[in-house]
Amino acid sequence: MAASQQSPALGSLALIAAVIGAGAVAFAYTAGWFSPERLTPGKLVAAFAPPTGAALGHRRNHAKGICFTGVFEANGAGTELSKAQVLARGQYPVLGRFNLGTHDPNAPDATVRVRGLSMRISTPDGQEWRSAMIDPPVFPVSTPEAFYELLRASGSKDPNAMETFATGHPEFTRFADWAKNGPWTGSYAEDRFNSLNSFVFVNGSGAEHVVRWSLLPAAQPVTVAPDELAKRGPDFLEQEIAQRVASAPQRWTMVVMVASSSDPTADPTKAWPADRRTIEVGTLTAQQVQVERDGPCRDINFDPTVLPSGMRTSDDPFPAARSAAYARSYDLRTAEAKDYPRTATGAKP
Ligand code: HEM
Repeated sequence: MAASQQSPALGSLALIAAVIGAGAVAFAYTAGWFSPERLTPGKLVAAFAPPTGAALGHRRNHAKGICFTGVFEANGAGTELSKAQVLARGQYPVLGRFNLGTHDPNAPDATVRVRGLSMRISTPDGQEWRSAMIDPPVFPVSTPEAFYELLRASGSKDPNAMETFATGHPEFTRFADWAKNGPWTGSYAEDRFNSLNSFVFVNGSGAEHVVRWSLLPAAQPVTVAPDELAKRGPDFLEQEIAQRVASAPQRWTMVVMVASSSDPTADPTKAWPADRRTIEVGTLTAQQVQVERDGPCRDINFDPTVLPSGMRTSDDPFPAARSAAYARSYDLRTAEAKDYPRTATGAKP
């Protein structure tokens, strides 16, 4: 056979080898094999686990929680900022989850400083606004890399690790001060939850505003010391919210704060001045507490980058890092269902 007849086949093989090789290189790059110091979602997620290992089948952070369903009633005022249907006057169904910032699904409630509220609001146009908010007024660190360092320091055997971290990260002070001196309440219904990360709202004319949002409780907060809360039992928060919602729906006002051009939009350790414009855009109502283990929150990922058209991520580096980490945690926990079996008859394994 003449060489000229062989070359197309050889050429195809070479091309296939090149494609496979390029794929392998891309995979190795994505996995971080070329740069072991690079932060990957896998490293970030693994850093939440204690030395004894993660609680299999559970979220790798905010592992303890209780699900709820309810409604978001938009008053229409938000349409000035965003064309998303969720801000047009109307009522939209909500799936939500009250939760605690811990890797331990059995942590006693009074021992966990950070509380969260996650929500997914769905609209008839098929879009969704997912958000996972927490109760501190600021985030502890400015970047995902610093968050990894914080996780490493807090899990370190070195007794000076946290002090060394705090010295190298003066921005941590504001969160640390809140953690030490900020009020605790006896109920999720009395807590305020903040997006902390900034996002961009785009209105019907194409105008863009950088915003953060918060849920302000309708219930009057009552401060209770953590040692008093400890006496209420390890699961007092979910017991209290289940009883409270059963006796009356619980409400929060959704308030959007609009940044001025000089405000830091990429750093959640920096609160914006309190006199910035705020707009009340609607009310979130928790109508029914749902079981956690077999309920509708189990297999959802409250990924903060799932946003309707009219909202998008900003230059804040966290939402992208969170999205990657939550996907990793979701993949792990849903593959571990046998370690956290469902109890309902006929439920999936
Ligand atoms: C790089 C920074 C962060 C990392 C690596 C991280 C990691 C995680 C992980 C792994 C989960 C579990 C996800 C799942 O299995 O579905 C989670 C849940 C959660 N995170 Fe983060 N997080 C970060 C930043 C934040 C910030 C800035 C906030 C709030 C402002 C936040 C609030 C929450 C809440 C409320 C949940 C519970 C979500 C649920 O109910 O499913 N996180 N986080």
